[in-house]
Amino acid sequence: MSVKGFSKFFSKRTELMRASEIRELLKVVESRDVISLAGGLPDPSTFPKEELAEIASYVIREYGEMALQYGTTQGARILREALCHFMARVMILCKPENILITTGSQQALDLISRTLIDPGDLVIVELPTYLAAINVFKLSQPKFIGIPIDEDGMRTDILEEKLRQIYGEGKKVKFVYTVPTAQNPSGVTMSNDRRKHLLELAEKYDFLVIEDDPYSHFLFEPVSFKHLKAMDTSGRVVYISTISKILSPGIRIGWIIAHEELISVFERAKQNLDLHTPTLNQYIVAEAIKRRVIERHLPRVKELYRKKKNIMLEALEEYFPEGSRWTKPVGGLFVFAYLPEGIDTKALLPKAIEHGVIYVPGKSFFVDGSGANTMRLNFSYPPPSKIVEGIRRLGNLLKSELGK
Ligand SMILES: Cc1ncc(COP(=O)(O)O)c(C=O)c1O
Repeated sequence: MSVKGFSKFFSKRTELMRASEIRELLKVVESRDVISLAGGLPDPSTFPKEELAEIASYVIREYGEMALQYGTTQGARILREALCHFMARVMILCKPENILITTGSQQALDLISRTLIDPGDLVIVELPTYLAAINVFKLSQPKFIGIPIDEDGMRTDILEEKLRQIYGEGKKVKFVYTVPTAQNPSGVTMSNDRRKHLLELAEKYDFLVIEDDPYSHFLFEPVSFKHLKAMDTSGRVVYISTISKILSPGIRIGWIIAHEELISVFERAKQNLDLHTPTLNQYIVAEAIKRRVIERHLPRVKELYRKKKNIMLEALEEYFPEGSRWTKPVGGLFVFAYLPEGIDTKALLPKAIEHGVIYVPGKSFFVDGSGANTMRLNFSYPPPSKIVEGIRRLGNLLKSELGK
């Protein structure tokens, strides 16, 4: 007899697991002639295929006995050492002991969620912030507090006010999660003054700061900033990054840089998840860093994304209705648009799909339920002609909704 309905077997925890809206949307797109401005995929022409093919075969021949073997949970020392050199370029000085290799930086977020959050803990995030971070933190049932951003990143003046109120009520904050540089979804970068202010507040109120940094390595407009981790004097910044946008997301290599005491608890949690990140991939990335593949490759990536970003901004200027505004990203893969009040981008999505274009409704990036009139638009993946056509279709739809 076949089983009728499996949900009765599911754990309570699965009720907290929401399928990523973006992934659900991508499934729709695959089956139709729809221009996708939704996902966050790098342009596949940026993958250094020949060099990686050569490195993969070299690594198997040269290091096969280790590279094809089980490894330690913390990660291959050869990669942790290579990453120390790589990070020293941006003044983040660390020892291999301070690094944990993760299976993409998404796993780093999961480890943080598992090891730092108890139900009811206060966790502060930006409004808007990275959707998948919200989803993975939610599994540990924190209470979120959202702090608005502007073109200089998180409004630390509002954060300070909030902290005064929270601590005045005798409560404490566990951590502030921020994507301070070329933020996802907005593309904005936190000013140095605000970074300093955030760290001062962290000292004063004794909370951790999670610096999620997938984008600072390929900024395509000039910006002056210091990484929070490079300014961290007390060890309270947990830095996470990834090769997904600068080499390949398919290799799934990310890393955490943190105090050894934190690294050891993250390591314990990771052991239960996957024992370790694929050893072969770790050796490939270590060799790619050693051969300076990323550094040689980045100027081309930056130039390509700068062009695509400008094409999207010009198309928005031309086609979007009056009363809309959007961010002018200095890096990352997205423009975030704020539309006239009254537009509900989630409700509009089925019509957009009929019009042959898809985006991510912005509301899911806001932990306070706001953002109904916002949308995230990706410029890294579609070819230029599709960026323009996608924005044209969306603009026309928005104008007809507004009766213009
Ligand atoms: C802010 C941020 N954090 C983490 C990730 C996860 O990246 P990965 O797991 O590919 O390293 C992404 C991916 O888009 C991101 O934008």
